[in-house]
Amino acid sequence: IKRITTHVLQEMKTRGEKISMLTAYDFSMAGILDGAGLDIILVGDSASNVMAGHETTLPITLDQMIYHASSVVRAVKRALVVVDIPFGSYQGNSSEALRSAIRIMKESGAHAVKVEGGAEIKESVVRILSAGVPVMGHLGLTPQSIYKFGTYTVRAKEEEEAAKLIADAKVLEECGCFAITLEKIPAQLAKKVAETVSIPVIGIGAGPHVDGQVLVVHDMLGITQEFKPRFLRQYADLRGIMTEAVEGYIKDVKSNDFPNEKESY
Ligand code: KIV
Ligand code: NA
Repeated sequence: IKRITTHVLQEMKTRGEKISMLTAYDFSMAGILDGAGLDIILVGDSASNVMAGHETTLPITLDQMIYHASSVVRAVKRALVVVDIPFGSYQGNSSEALRSAIRIMKESGAHAVKVEGGAEIKESVVRILSAGVPVMGHLGLTPQSIYKFGTYTVRAKEEEEAAKLIADAKVLEECGCFAITLEKIPAQLAKKVAETVSIPVIGIGAGPHVDGQVLVVHDMLGITQEFKPRFLRQYADLRGIMTEAVEGYIKDVKSNDFPNEKESY
């Protein structure tokens, strides 16, 4: 199988082929996504919410991200594996950022890292890139800054914030980022960004005029409960299917139907 590299992604943008990306945090799920032919697997710090049950992405640690990432990497044969550097592991200074990126690359075997922010984290991005580690940017709704924003509503609806977002996208491109994720911004602004920068732009809640799409896998499979933003398309009701399966198991155990003779030694 031909592996997806940052170079392949750039070619996909150039030829107008959309890039598919989903999150995964463990071996079993990553194997399913990779086997299905997904281009990018993001070991997102949304693991903090989805895997650990925290309300925000802030509490997850670098060690925990490395644990998730190494589990994912062991399952992947084709996809590019990108890992979020968690809150508090790169904002301090560029040496800290580089150290965190190197730990992720060495200890998990992943292929790239993702960081939230634009001009503010430029030095860190440059430092990580100088070590040969591919960096994906993340602009718009940046969940690690949720306490600054106060809400998870659509970002950059005002002229000033939109202008800063475009400027930040240019900064990230000039630094040498291989792609940018845009979260929850108006479709027309995302279109402008994708036209302005030459690197791939992956959207989540950023409309169709970008170079690829990303969703949290537990959301699109219908495992997550109660999280139903407008941008989410649910492709399955796995919570329903799994609940039925578990109910069936409970019933069979209680009624002495399981295990039967064939299932016994
Ligand atoms: O952590 C995550 O899942 C993400 C995606 C929503 C882009 O950063
Ligand atoms: Na994230």
